[in-house]
Amino acid sequence: MSKVVVISGHPNLSESWTNKVILNTLEEQIKSIDIRRLDTLYPNYQIDIEAEQKALLEADIVVLQFPFYWYSVPAIMKKWLDDVFGFNFAYGPEGDKLKDKHLILSLTIGGPEESYDPLGYNHFAVEQLLHPLQQTGYLAGMIYQSPVYSYRMIYIPNVYNTQQAVEKRALEHAEELIAKIDRLAYSTEAQFELFAKQWFDRFDRLPEESSEFLPYISEELELLDAENSYRGKAGFTDWYQSVLAAFKPEVTHRIEQVEIESGSDDTYLATIRVRVQGELQNGNNINQLFNQNWTVTLNDEGEFQIHRYYVTPV
Ligand SMILES: Cc1cc2nc3c(=O)[nH]c(=O)nc-3n(C[C@H](O)[C@H](O)[C@H](O)COP(=O)(O)O)c2cc1C
Repeated sequence: MSKVVVISGHPNLSESWTNKVILNTLEEQIKSIDIRRLDTLYPNYQIDIEAEQKALLEADIVVLQFPFYWYSVPAIMKKWLDDVFGFNFAYGPEGDKLKDKHLILSLTIGGPEESYDPLGYNHFAVEQLLHPLQQTGYLAGMIYQSPVYSYRMIYIPNVYNTQQAVEKRALEHAEELIAKIDRLAYSTEAQFELFAKQWFDRFDRLPEESSEFLPYISEELELLDAENSYRGKAGFTDWYQSVLAAFKPEVTHRIEQVEIESGSDDTYLATIRVRVQGELQNGNNINQLFNQNWTVTLNDEGEFQIHRYYVTPV
């Protein structure tokens, strides 16, 4: 099961009308969740970097939940980002610790929708204003998901909105966010996309042994490439040796398309199109598309097992 960590960037939840409702709803409805309320954890803004990084390492889905303040995150969340997304954690030569984790920005917005328009007083669409955070996710290698946001979330008694109206919008916001988390955490498509991405990342690195791949290979594997067929884990290792002999480690594998559908019994049929680019051991360059047809199952631990692995050059 995917673990969800929610970072709450509201500076004072005891005075919140909407973020509070969203956080409470998430807490009630999502089983495997760690909600980190920065206002109570760090009233003096002294972030415990180690504790925060540990929470992120354990998560598959990272939600930044915050009220939109001056078209950005509140100061405490900016401090959290500056401190926690550090060198060799979120960026730098060993900064791959957040790689492949999903990032969801979830924000409450005071202004109305029509104001976030070239002709409105906020001029820019919300998603344009979120670009710095989106790029932060990209730099950290995270998988940026479309954000969840709600307008007209400001409640000032007798001035703007009613408590009832903003609380209702907050509940709807929470439902939308939960549906998104559920899709990411439990849909087979999303899980398989991640699996395939990690699989080909390993081929980019090209470790000297096949052992990193073997946990996902069935004993009955049937592997077919343009020239030969191979069987089982031992067959996979033989094939992998031929890959090592042909490719230099700088060769990259980019997934251009991935689809998965239910097959017979508990199997899934996956179709993947990968572009392989770089230099071969024989000095030639390669820039080729491969179609891959896999048959996979999910084991009791929720991990994919590959039973059939057909590789065809396009
Ligand atoms: C310091 C500050 C800055 C704000 N900046 C914006 C803004 O740039 N755009 C906007 O639409 N609303 C802005 N708001 C309104 C908040 O986004 C809104 O009050 C908040 O989302 C409500 O969340 P809460 O009920 O959890 O406190 C701002 C509010 C404060 C206090």
